Amino acid sequence: MPPPADAAICIGMYVFDISTGSKDELYRDLYAAIDAVTADERDAIANMANVAALLWQYLPDLNWAGFYRMVAGELVLGPFQGKVACIRIAVGVGVCGTAAQTGATQVVEDVHAFPGHIACDAASRSELVVPVVVDGAVIAVIDLDSPAPARFDAADAAGCERIATLIAARIA
Ligand code: SME
Repeated sequence: MPPPADAAICIGMYVFDISTGSKDELYRDLYAAIDAVTADERDAIANMANVAALLWQYLPDLNWAGFYRMVAGELVLGPFQGKVACIRIAVGVGVCGTAAQTGATQVVEDVHAFPGHIACDAASRSELVVPVVVDGAVIAVIDLDSPAPARFDAADAAGCERIATLIAARIA
């Protein structure tokens, strides 16, 4: 049976024009793609899923990209790309829990040197975690892992923080 005429249906594939030149260009284009794909959708899980997919597809050298959501005072695994990951993380524990507790982006060049780092994949060497904040409260974190040491720098942090600000209300 065909869907009702007013149903929100997928009318075709998305085509993105993402520059792979400089990091600034990459994050500029990723921002635009994420804005386009989340702007008219109110379902938080759908939006997190598409953001995770875009980060995973276009950011090089990742082995995990996705979300942990704040649920009843702890972080719970959200939409992601990569290997199966730990499901619940206490606030204050590990890189994600530290970002959630402090509200501050965590750029970790060497995860083995981070006290309490939670190893979901033994291949991970560096990590970037960015809080997503709504009305002053951390509602989720964006977590990126890489098998490359020191994969993430200030440009990655700034690019992902802009994305976090953009999507905050769209994943709440
Ligand atoms: N390494 C994270 C745990 C989540 S996984 O990387 C997907 C941490 O220490 O919080």
